[in-house]
Amino acid sequence: MKKKDTGTEPKLATKTKSDNDPALLELFSDSICDLYWAENHLVKSLPKMIAAAGAAELKNTISNHLEETRTHVKRLEQIFKLLGKDPIAKKCDAMEGLVREGEVIVESTTQGTATREVGIILAGQKVEHYEIASYGGLYQLANTLGLPEIAEILAQTLEEEKAADLKLSAVAENEINYQAAQEA
Ligand SMILES: [Fe+2]
Ligand SMILES: [Fe+2]
Repeated sequence: MKKKDTGTEPKLATKTKSDNDPALLELFSDSICDLYWAENHLVKSLPKMIAAAGAAELKNTISNHLEETRTHVKRLEQIFKLLGKDPIAKKCDAMEGLVREGEVIVESTTQGTATREVGIILAGQKVEHYEIASYGGLYQLANTLGLPEIAEILAQTLEEEKAADLKLSAVAENEINYQAAQEA
């Protein structure tokens, strides 16, 4: 609940947890713009990772997450609507770097090798962990700002990012890490 302004208190710059601080809301909105860029960047780059991955299990895992990622973009658009803002993407340097790292791994490994797949999984898990940190933090922040509807949307995506990370771990553990260790 928002505190009622009695009109008798001076507007102090002191910040408490329950204040709907405009600066904090701005930070929140900016972070949503950042994530919007990141998710859109992933929609463009994941097909390259699917093409580079050899094993069917890994291809399927990334393909399924590409579909989820398209939903993540739509959910962020829903959040913009709830914030009363137009969807604006702000370049996310971190995601650009993480995706680039995956591309470099693909460039420096051979198609069809388990080593490449291990590299793709490693890069993919770094992306998921970045997303988990972002969605987890923004979920908390949405609650602090008194935006439960937005928090709920962020929580849905957060769960899918966590599941994608676990799935990538499982793919690595099932077969691929062992195969890669056997490669010359
Ligand atoms: Fe995502
Ligand atoms: Fe993800």
